[in-house]
Amino acid sequence: MKRTHYATQIGIDQVGCEVVLNGWVNTRRDHGGLIFIDLRDRSGIIQAVCSPEVDAAAFAVAEQVRGEHVVAIRGTVMRRPKDTENPNLKTGLVEIWVAELQVFNRAKTPPFYIENDIEVDENLRLKYRYLDLRRPEMMDNLMLRHRIVKTIRDFLDNRGFIEVETPILTSSTPEGARDYLVPSRVHPGRFYGLPQSPQIFKQMLMVAGVDKYFQIARCFRDEDLRADRQPEFTQLDMEMSFIDEEDVFSLVEELMTVLFSQIGRTIKTPFPRIRYDEAMARYGSDAPDLRFGLEIVDLTDILRNTQFKVFSQAIQNGGVVRAINAAGCASWTRREIDEMGKLAVDSGAKGMAWIACSENELKSPITKFLSQDEIDGIMTALNAKPGDLLLFGADTAAVVNRVMGFLRLELARRLKLADPQEFNFTWVYDFPLLEYDDEEERYVAVHHMFTSPRPEDIELLNSEPLRVKARAYDLVLNGTEVGGGSIRIHRRDWQEMMFDRVGMSPAEAQEKFGYMLEAFEYGPPPHGGIAFGIDRLLMIMTGRKSIRDVIAFPKTQSAVCPLTGAPSRVSPRQLRELSLKIKEK
Ligand code: AMO
Ligand code: AMP
Repeated sequence: MKRTHYATQIGIDQVGCEVVLNGWVNTRRDHGGLIFIDLRDRSGIIQAVCSPEVDAAAFAVAEQVRGEHVVAIRGTVMRRPKDTENPNLKTGLVEIWVAELQVFNRAKTPPFYIENDIEVDENLRLKYRYLDLRRPEMMDNLMLRHRIVKTIRDFLDNRGFIEVETPILTSSTPEGARDYLVPSRVHPGRFYGLPQSPQIFKQMLMVAGVDKYFQIARCFRDEDLRADRQPEFTQLDMEMSFIDEEDVFSLVEELMTVLFSQIGRTIKTPFPRIRYDEAMARYGSDAPDLRFGLEIVDLTDILRNTQFKVFSQAIQNGGVVRAINAAGCASWTRREIDEMGKLAVDSGAKGMAWIACSENELKSPITKFLSQDEIDGIMTALNAKPGDLLLFGADTAAVVNRVMGFLRLELARRLKLADPQEFNFTWVYDFPLLEYDDEEERYVAVHHMFTSPRPEDIELLNSEPLRVKARAYDLVLNGTEVGGGSIRIHRRDWQEMMFDRVGMSPAEAQEKFGYMLEAFEYGPPPHGGIAFGIDRLLMIMTGRKSIRDVIAFPKTQSAVCPLTGAPSRVSPRQLRELSLKIKEK
């Protein structure tokens, strides 16, 4: 009873052949004289028919089997009668008439149906992940993931990249999240950090002369989890020497074209590019979804002298007034508009002014404060037509960008403006090098501390650090950041300047990154690279809402693995060996 075929390898061409399949009973239907078994293996499903006239013993076994029993069947492939073909199955034109049926193992009734599109609590799915992964859509995700990673390896190998493994037990590279720490037994009181990325090691490899490196690298970040974030995730990490931004862009565009061809999609290259400032002003996000317009329009100049206090005060305080045209939404009820207003406030706004442009009149709580010139100016700037609803934000540019960016996405969601079938890539570049962290009261790197400033801005690093632009770039797909990278600093003095700018004392820099500074004295080549979130990329490729669906054994939003129960308590002995003591709360 050794397998001759996977289910979906069987079709019209095999009609008349004897085949053996191994797999699980997906469903069993007893039609009195005939028993139908849908047999599932990792490739898909095929229908088998048991008849006492073909084989009485097999029929007797079929009477006993139940869902998820593990079986082998031997039988002859037959063309299904015309009216019983199943267009929903890949194998729907054929069926197997069973001559022998063997049960390898029985199974309890699973806690949920093993089929696509189930609505089951995710914790239950994760607890019984081995059953969840039996569902064809999940198995397809695993297989696609394998194929994509293999394609990446082949593509980069063909272009002279070599894959190098970097340590998991290391001192962590800061990428802005908290570290996962592993206590050392041999060195009591000391800890390894798990890498947030292989950033420093790949730069060391460039100093070593590896020239073109990549790695399918596991990364660990202890941060607040969301649908597109996991505490451990996988990057395609890359680094190259003697290159500039254009080399990275063209290589990545070629790679994405090849990857998406794996799912039968043609990607248009080169990808459009947008400066960070422009992305923030027009879309309120550094990862804009450009599948739809709904652009944010600046009205600050038009409203500079307005009588409306909310706007004039924001402008006087150095802020801006910006608006978005929700085309065709003038008929929204007050409740619907107030709902949007509440969302605006929840995302940080002080309010949300609006104008509804009906056929002959404007409905609005604010037009009474505006002059006719101002109203005309607004209408022109927003290209407003009867039927449109205009939503306003007034505050600092940072707040207005965030709020309007949020409203833009919410509107697109409600109006279904984003085509789920479209794959829209954009490069975002010209990021600021630094931003000010109010909580920590210091500058922090927007990308990371190893990103090079633009050489022409280096003078500004001391005088006006916020105006310094970085040689950093992100790749955005449908409004999700799928990759980010930069051209790096490769001079010791610049790297020291950068450590200093983010508030690190020379002693601290020496202690944490002395080895890197030292390496920069032994001929580091100019270099740069990028890393992609493979999970995020696959999530979008498969049209999923969560990266958990493309990871075999993910963790929940609270960083727990329901299957194994990790993180778990450890024995007092283990703690003693590690010189650790737990303070019970
Ligand atoms: P960055 O921090 O931007 O850059 O990470 C690169 C990409 O990794 C993905 N990603 C994540 N995916 C799932 N869960 C997470 N918690 C998570 N965090 C990040 C994103 C992101 O674009 N060393 C630099 C790269 C470089 O400069 O070359 C780095 O790690 O898709
Ligand atoms: P008020 O005069 O405070 O009642 O505000 C009049 C209108 O302006 C209301 O529709 C408010 O929601 C709106 N509004 C208040 N503050 C802001 C703001 N910062 N940005 C945009 N609209 C606002």
